[in-house]
Amino acid sequence: MSVAFPDPSFWRLSVAPMMGWTDRHCRFFHRLLTRRTLLYTEMVTTGALIHGNAAQHLHFNEEEHPVALQLGGSEPVDLAVCARLGEARGYDEINLNCGCPSERVLKGAFGACLMGDARLVADGVKAMVDAVAIPVTVKHRIGIDKIESYDFVRDFVGTVSEAGCKVFLVHARNAWLQGLSPKENREIPPLRYELVHRLKRDFPGLVIAVNGGIKTNAQIAEQLAHVDGAMIGREAYHNPWLMTEWDQTFYGAAPPVEPLTREAVELAMVDYMERAQDDDGAPWYSIASHMLGLRHGEHGARKWRQVWSNHKLKPLPAREVWAMAQEHVGHAELAESELS
Ligand SMILES: Cc1cc2nc3c(=O)[nH]c(=O)nc-3n(C[C@H](O)[C@H](O)[C@H](O)COP(=O)(O)O)c2cc1C
Repeated sequence: MSVAFPDPSFWRLSVAPMMGWTDRHCRFFHRLLTRRTLLYTEMVTTGALIHGNAAQHLHFNEEEHPVALQLGGSEPVDLAVCARLGEARGYDEINLNCGCPSERVLKGAFGACLMGDARLVADGVKAMVDAVAIPVTVKHRIGIDKIESYDFVRDFVGTVSEAGCKVFLVHARNAWLQGLSPKENREIPPLRYELVHRLKRDFPGLVIAVNGGIKTNAQIAEQLAHVDGAMIGREAYHNPWLMTEWDQTFYGAAPPVEPLTREAVELAMVDYMERAQDDDGAPWYSIASHMLGLRHGEHGARKWRQVWSNHKLKPLPAREVWAMAQEHVGHAELAESELS
C-alpha cells in the first residue's frame, strides 16, 4: 500500500506519549482543551498487543481524534501485525518508540537502544508501511550514550526514511542507556535543539518535530521557526490550560464564540467520569488524577487538587467530590507557614 505524503501541519503540535499518564482518560481531557493538537497514546508493546487483551489496550474515545498509537517493539513481523490492529481500530498514525531508555524496554530490544541498529528500525518501519495506509512515524533521541556527533542521528534518519518513514519526532537529548533512571534521562543529558534544526535543513522533504523541555507558547513559536512541529510532554500534563491557546495561536482557528472556562471543562470531566463509571466501571479517581493541573496557578489550586486526589473520598460519587472541590475554587490559599 502506498501513503500519500502527509500534511506537515498534522504534526505542528502534539502531546507526547507518556506511560502512566496519557491514557484515554487523559487524552479525552486534553481534547477538551485543544481541538487540533495531535495526541499520542502511552507506549503499547507488541507483546502486550499480540499476547494480551488487544481490544482493551487499543480502546479509545472517538472524541480523541487525531490520535496516534505508539508501539514499542523491534520485530518487523510483530510490528506489522500491531500496526494493522491499530489502523483497524481507527488510529490516525502508528508511531514507533526509539527513544525510551527504561530497563524494561531494553530487555525487550526496543526503545532508544534501537538507534544503535538503524537497519532493524528500517526493516520494522518498512514492514509497517507495507501493512497500513496511515502514516508510520518514529520518535527518537539525538543519540545514545556518549555518541554526540550529528552524523549519528543524521544517518539514523537517512536510513529509516529510505524505508518509508516521512515523519520524525526528535527528543533533543541523548539517551544514556546505563547509569541513569528514565526520569534522569529526561533531565540530565543536555538539550541540543540545534541538531534537530539541522535535521530539518538536511532533510527538507521530511516532517521533523522537536521534543524536550518546551514549556511556553513563546518557546513553541521559536521552535516552529526551525522545524515543522513541537511535541510537548510534561508541561502539557502539569499545566494543561496552556493548550487552550494552541488552536488559535498555532492553527489559526477562530476564537470560540463562548470562551472556554476551567469550570466548564471540570464539569465536562465530571460528566465523563459518570459515563466511564457506567460504561466500564472506571473509577472517578483514575480519571481525575489527569486533570489535577487544570487550576495550575489559580487561587485555591492546591486545596482543590487535594480534594480531587483524596483517597478517603474514593467511595463517593464523582459529583459529590466535585461539589467539595468547588469550595476552594477562587479562594486565596493560606501561606505554607500558616499551615504548619
Ligand atoms: C511519565 C512519563 C512517561 C513517558 N513515557 C513515554 C513513552 O511511553 N513513550 C515515549 O516515547 N516517551 C515517553 N516519555 C517521554 C516523553 O514522551 C518526552 O519525550 C519527554 O518527557 C520529553 O518531553 P518534555 O520535556 O516535553 O516532557 C515519558 C515521559 C514521562 C514524563
